[in-house]
Amino acid sequence: MIFGTEELAHLEMVGTIVHQLTKNASIEEIEAAGLGAYYTDHGVDVYPQSAAGMPFSASVLACKGDAIANLQEDLAAEQKARATYEKLIDLCRDNPDVVDPLKFLREREIVHFQRFGEALRGVQDKLAEKKFYMNCDNMNTNMYK
Ligand SMILES: [Fe+2]
Repeated sequence: MIFGTEELAHLEMVGTIVHQLTKNASIEEIEAAGLGAYYTDHGVDVYPQSAAGMPFSASVLACKGDAIANLQEDLAAEQKARATYEKLIDLCRDNPDVVDPLKFLREREIVHFQRFGEALRGVQDKLAEKKFYMNCDNMNTNMYK
């Protein structure tokens, strides 16, 4: 799905921001920023993890084999991403070079939420359509020969 491709691009943007903010940091600056444990494990490389240090894992990806459940998961994921960007914007409010791309990413999550909402409504409308079933016993079976 095209959203997945865009989300990977978002990861690249966030990783680039982190790299740009840490690439020339001194050990003292890294420690003062509370990144000592991160530095110990990863140096200044970009490692995908939550703000609390939980490494990214496919276990956070949800799919149930049910369009309604999957779309509800997608909607929740977009809202969680938007909320995360808003918290990052709060934390970086004094750095417009960081806030501006975060605002862009936040807006993209809102658009994703809207598109998933449209998809959910489409699926729900399709499921609500009146069903027609054909009785093959009454059909002229010669028409398939
Ligand atoms: Fe998204």
